[in-house]
Amino acid sequence: MCGIVGYVGPRSSVEVLLGGLRRLEYRGYDSAGVSLISNDGRLETRKRAGKLDRLVEAIAEHPLDVAHIGIGHTRWATHGAPTDGNAHPHLGGAEQKLSLIHNGIIENFSELKAELLAAGTRFASETDSEVAAHLVAAEYQKSGDLIAAFRSVVNRLHGAFTILVIHQDQPDLVLAARRNAPLVVGLGDGENFLGSDVAAFVEHTKRAISVGQDEIVILRADGVTIEDFAGNPSPHEEFTVDWDASAASKGGWPSFMAKEIADQPQSVGDTLMGRLDSTGAVVLDELAPISDVVANADRIIFVACGTAAYAAEVGKYAFEKWARIVVSVELSHEFRYRDPILTPNTLVVAVSQSGETMDTLMATRYAKEAGCQVLAICNTQGATLARESDAVLYTHAGPEVAVASTKAFTAQIAAMHLLALHMAGIRKALPEAAANQIGRELLKLPAKVTEVLASAGSMAELGKSFGDAKSVLFLGRNVGYPIALEGALKLKEIAYIHAEGFAAGELKHGPIALVEQGQPVIVIVPSPADSDSLHPKVISNIQEIRARGAKVIAIAEVGDGLVSQFAEHVFYVPQIQPMLASILNVIPLQIFAMALANAKGLDVDQPRNLAKSVTVE
Ligand code: AGP
Repeated sequence: MCGIVGYVGPRSSVEVLLGGLRRLEYRGYDSAGVSLISNDGRLETRKRAGKLDRLVEAIAEHPLDVAHIGIGHTRWATHGAPTDGNAHPHLGGAEQKLSLIHNGIIENFSELKAELLAAGTRFASETDSEVAAHLVAAEYQKSGDLIAAFRSVVNRLHGAFTILVIHQDQPDLVLAARRNAPLVVGLGDGENFLGSDVAAFVEHTKRAISVGQDEIVILRADGVTIEDFAGNPSPHEEFTVDWDASAASKGGWPSFMAKEIADQPQSVGDTLMGRLDSTGAVVLDELAPISDVVANADRIIFVACGTAAYAAEVGKYAFEKWARIVVSVELSHEFRYRDPILTPNTLVVAVSQSGETMDTLMATRYAKEAGCQVLAICNTQGATLARESDAVLYTHAGPEVAVASTKAFTAQIAAMHLLALHMAGIRKALPEAAANQIGRELLKLPAKVTEVLASAGSMAELGKSFGDAKSVLFLGRNVGYPIALEGALKLKEIAYIHAEGFAAGELKHGPIALVEQGQPVIVIVPSPADSDSLHPKVISNIQEIRARGAKVIAIAEVGDGLVSQFAEHVFYVPQIQPMLASILNVIPLQIFAMALANAKGLDVDQPRNLAKSVTVE
């Protein structure tokens, strides 16, 4: 996912742009660049493939003059390899007085490029973005009105785009437009900012505006105008960012992932805060806009991808057990191509940390077009998903910078448990006393997460010792099954080794054939107190794989003496209401994966090939 920064004001624009791009590094990228208009009126551009340090080198080799306006970009390659030439910004027009940056995909760029080539335009890159740069320059040359030219062009573009433009002739103006891609405005005093998200400018201002679909921003130091693609003024609301710049920095931790794993008592606590009263009763005022469907729903469909989908899989057990409602979890990218059966009484819940995952956005739009109401469970204020849903249940995990999701995952589960209890109450599916007792158990989670983290050193040591592992299997049952899937995903994502999660009961239906001498298998063991007596079944599963040579690491509830007779290693987590154990059980798996990846010398924050949010389908 590309990073975008724009600035106009009294500061040195190159410093604002590079600082903003640094804060957006987590979005994943493979080239970077900046354009600015110097105080003596010249458009200057520096761009390089690779990480930001290479761009800084390019600027050191060819210093930029003082400037107070500019645009900056980190690119995650879609059209064209990550080369210096394909890096943004792209220059438009024969005189190269216009500079443009773009996040997204212009789906009709081929026909537009053909039109430009026929007019004699020469291209310097293979990108779809450069087409937009030349189009705006050509329109501006015809009309002499840069804003009108920009508006005309963005109306011709299909697909997903956040575009920023500056032009040498207008050194006080940054133009921006968004369709199906994120863009926020930062409001300063005598200065204004643009960013893919608030991390781009939060060190300078916490006042922000989320730009809506098909809107144009006219940004000057002394003011911001927002209009629709037809040029009409667009209403917009200002919001205040609820975290500060230090929250988006490592704060002394060796990696963002380590920081975010350690943040989990806070992030789970913040997500629960204000949503449970002292009796344990759930209070979710944010659901008011969808109170009817919440009360009358006969089915819930979760749409999500990756880790967010596994959080939904955990939530499914709670909704079915407590609220007694039919639940299915659909991978967003599969959902709308299945021609799913949807009715106005189907509540669709879209789960997304970033709120910009295109697959989940498209699934949400599909559901709304089918007449469903959509509730978003989202971690990013003002994100596209949040704005397009009928209601939002925000997780309050703070910025999750590492690509591999950890604290957002546990916060999503906490939010889902709140929602399931809320619906159980409304549907009178659970006696109030029982529901409140679970609510009070939820309130114990932050302290129990702290306990898990305090003893997690043994899992880090184990992770290191498996640095040569070629494959690790994960087994779980009931709510432990999605945790097995999530544990496997963490290992795949950051340690680049084969890892697979299975429902423990599935072993004898095939996967046990994978077990050979020395095969590491991590097993999430249910509580011995679990009323469904899954515990003895999982103990049997452990015996079966041990008999075939597996090296078993068990995640088990403190006091479970039986499991230690069958597993090489046991990591104990505190006792809690069994449905809530998933938040505790996943933390040792996060730590195991991070330690193993660190032992391999890998970058746990920005794993290869991955971006923090997948904003293209
Ligand atoms: C999780 O570690 C991955 N980074 C990935 O699976 C992620 O959960 C998925 O892409 C969904 O992202 P979202 O929550 O921002 O929609």
